[in-house]
Amino acid sequence: PQHFALIPAAGVGARMGVHIPKQYMAVAGKPMLRHALDTFAAHARITRTFVVVSAGDAWIDELLTPELAQRTTVLRVGGATRQESVFNGLNEIRSMAGDADWVLVHDAARPGLNAELIDRLLDTLENDDVGGLLALPVVDTLKRESAGGRSQETVPRAGLWAAQTPQMFRYALLQRALRQAAEQGRIGAITDDASAIEMLGLRPRLVEGSPRNLKVTLAQDAALAEFFLKG
Ligand code: C5P
Repeated sequence: PQHFALIPAAGVGARMGVHIPKQYMAVAGKPMLRHALDTFAAHARITRTFVVVSAGDAWIDELLTPELAQRTTVLRVGGATRQESVFNGLNEIRSMAGDADWVLVHDAARPGLNAELIDRLLDTLENDDVGGLLALPVVDTLKRESAGGRSQETVPRAGLWAAQTPQMFRYALLQRALRQAAEQGRIGAITDDASAIEMLGLRPRLVEGSPRNLKVTLAQDAALAEFFLKG
């Protein structure tokens, strides 16, 4: 089977408090989205990368160099949520992807992904029935809040992982999972692709990710991502 990368990049980045969408903000010398596109384009096992942007996106064309454009297709079908953007993107590539082909869905806001992590994911999941995702065991002590901002209890962290991306599933399974979540009105409860798969009763494999693959959500995350990219 082939391996396609699908990058939802249609977010507006409201939490960063900036006007330019965060995926276009520079980290370590280039826009965050460029880091992910370059990493996938340089990887021999990735057939092609699809990037989903908003219909009116004014930045993507500038960001694609001619050589990057040879390995990357822009889909202007961004939706109202990440999941909608992923689902729309999947539908757009229907003619290219076979049911059993793998799709690696990766957040544009994770510039620290590298070839080693992609290889780890591919090597671990190549013969897997379900697919899986990069994730990291939780290291913090976790508190459940009760009313009034007080800690009600400590949630045991054993067995808890923080999800990262890429999340890798076969084309037909992922499309079915997202369609079903949408039909059941549960799409809003989904913040990643693996949760749609879990709703089918399947159990995605957890593959150890890396701190360098952090998601840039707040302004200070960009400095940390830069640290990893320059190191
Ligand atoms: O905002 P957040 O960090 O959760 O977004 C995760 C990823 O989903 C980002 O790459 C963002 O661009 C993308 N996204 C999208 N369409 C939306 C919202 C977010 O493609 N409507």
